[in-house]
Amino acid sequence: MSEGREIFGSKEIELKSGHKIKVRPMVPEDEKPLFDFFQNLPDELLMFVRHNVRDPEVIREWVEHLNYERVLPLLAIHDEKIIADVTLHRIPHGWKRHIGQVRIVVSPEYQGQGLATAMLNEVVGLSAELGLEKLWAEVPLDSVAAIKAFRNAGFGCKAVIEGLVKDVKGNNVDILIMVCDIQRYYDSKWLSK
Ligand SMILES: CC(C)(COP(=O)(O)OP(=O)(O)OC[C@H]1O[C@@H](n2cnc3c(N)ncnc32)[C@H](O)[C@@H]1OP(=O)(O)O)[C@@H](O)C(=O)NCCC(=O)NCCS
Repeated sequence: MSEGREIFGSKEIELKSGHKIKVRPMVPEDEKPLFDFFQNLPDELLMFVRHNVRDPEVIREWVEHLNYERVLPLLAIHDEKIIADVTLHRIPHGWKRHIGQVRIVVSPEYQGQGLATAMLNEVVGLSAELGLEKLWAEVPLDSVAAIKAFRNAGFGCKAVIEGLVKDVKGNNVDILIMVCDIQRYYDSKWLSK
């Protein structure tokens, strides 16, 4: 894996466990480790992913058509393995051109150690540099960890849509829309110093 390569968005973060984790954008060489990451995720976590990531062709398509201006995938890497994936989706035209949509999934063995919080903070910082004004996330209303992680990164709770999506068993699940106003978040951090 190209851990030595420093590219835009690369960073090292330290988990509560003391483990040092490399965070960087996805590169073509990530095809195999990314496939392994998704293979090892439990089915319940795959419902947050919009594609059939257990199909190697899907991952190949992603790495062969990387376009950071459309989708910026940030990966967390430990011991040569991908352990988390956060994606920033952008729409180049129209009324949502200033908004990024964020999705995240962390490998179960690394959850509860501050990884999502750190990666989401990283995405907010990168989004500011990219000129985005707002970030949007759709979070399951019953996921305390997801709501806390997004709140830690400056997202606020905006709306609940009851029973909008389906879980792996086919049950309808409520979705919470969370939004981060990037400028306001940085202003409030600056004021609280
Ligand atoms: C949501 C998710 C990304 C959180 O990842 P994580 O690395 O465990 O998150 P963090 O360690 O940064 O924890 C965030 C907060 O949630 C808390 N938390 C973590 N796991 C928790 C759990 N199982 N139950 C309750 N709280 C939990 C942490 O203590 C922390 O709280 P704090 O702010 O008071 O310190 C991870 O659980 C996941 O991948 N879930 C499935 C995908 C998903 O729901 N994505 C969100 C929609 S896109």
